[in-house]
Amino acid sequence: MLDISLVRSTLASHYDLTPSPELAASMSDLYGRMDRVVSPPEWAIYAPYVKAINDLKKKRNAVILGHNYMTPEIFHGVSDFVGDSLQLAIKATEVEADVIVQAGVHFMAETSKILSPEKTVLMPDMAAGCSLAESITAEGVEEMRAKYPGAPVVSYVNTTAEVKAASDICCTSSNAVQIVDAMDSDTVIMTPDQFLAQNVANLSKKKVVFWPGSCIVHELYTADDLRAYRELDPEVKIIAHPECTPDVVAEADFTGSTSGIIKWVHDHKPSKAMLVTECSMASNISDELPEVEFAKPCNMCPYMKKISLEKILYVLHTMEGQVEVDPDMAAKARLSVERMIDLSKKLGL
Ligand code: 13P
Ligand code: SF4
Repeated sequence: MLDISLVRSTLASHYDLTPSPELAASMSDLYGRMDRVVSPPEWAIYAPYVKAINDLKKKRNAVILGHNYMTPEIFHGVSDFVGDSLQLAIKATEVEADVIVQAGVHFMAETSKILSPEKTVLMPDMAAGCSLAESITAEGVEEMRAKYPGAPVVSYVNTTAEVKAASDICCTSSNAVQIVDAMDSDTVIMTPDQFLAQNVANLSKKKVVFWPGSCIVHELYTADDLRAYRELDPEVKIIAHPECTPDVVAEADFTGSTSGIIKWVHDHKPSKAMLVTECSMASNISDELPEVEFAKPCNMCPYMKKISLEKILYVLHTMEGQVEVDPDMAAKARLSVERMIDLSKKLGL
């Protein structure tokens, strides 16, 4: 486990991280992207970290891949590329850097390592897991294959390398329906998210059978809560992630991946929007969309929130937190992820 006192004492002996309004003022371009959600004193605290990270990135030839659920100072302050799981996986194959810092959760870093074994992939906190990835092992995949002989296994990218290696192809929230529909079988096994699978089944021509995993963030939302909110504020557009239950998805005006949600809000610019997903999403886009009033039901992902500026600086400084995947397993897992990327590109997704 990461020893936070060691992190702090190491950083204190190499960097001046004293809050600095002067430094903060000199970085007003970056601050302008988040000044509606980050207060000036907070920015004065973050600015020395942001500067140290951005300087060190150049020295290490590193890039930071930031998931849409990162907090605004990480999302806007230090990430070179931001996006949903599919976009970050594709980016990992394209970036020229020697080092990738994954500002996201462990399965995303593993995916980057699987796709770019020659690069050093750093995870700021190895304990940043995911309830979905933890819900299934390769034995679970084999159990499903034994139950539904001949059915292909489509595993959500929110899985470990071992599960990806045991699957036929991966999917993400932005391509799940199209990937399932493209399978050459009437029955398709989806792991590990039961709700994503049920939502896909509602849109697909296939019989979808699934593993009973769930996301601890999205499963908390209820259709009753959303209906009550809409009754109180009929103008609101409700936008959900497909890891929510089918009841919740049925109440939504739009359902999509984290980047799909951001695009929908940009394209439609509703006067009021409720993002039925992780808290940071609304914060990250509210500066770009001042005309949209966001209702912020806030279910936080405790795993994503393990990533902080100080941990990013620490791993870049020490080069600790390197993600390794057994080469044989990585080769098998790569096939599943590459099949997904190739099929997504072919389908124009
Ligand atoms: P996206 O692929 O939509 O970014 O989702 C990842 C995730 O973990 C959502 O909970
Ligand atoms: Fe996993 Fe849910 Fe957190 Fe996404 S929000 S990383 S699916 S626990």
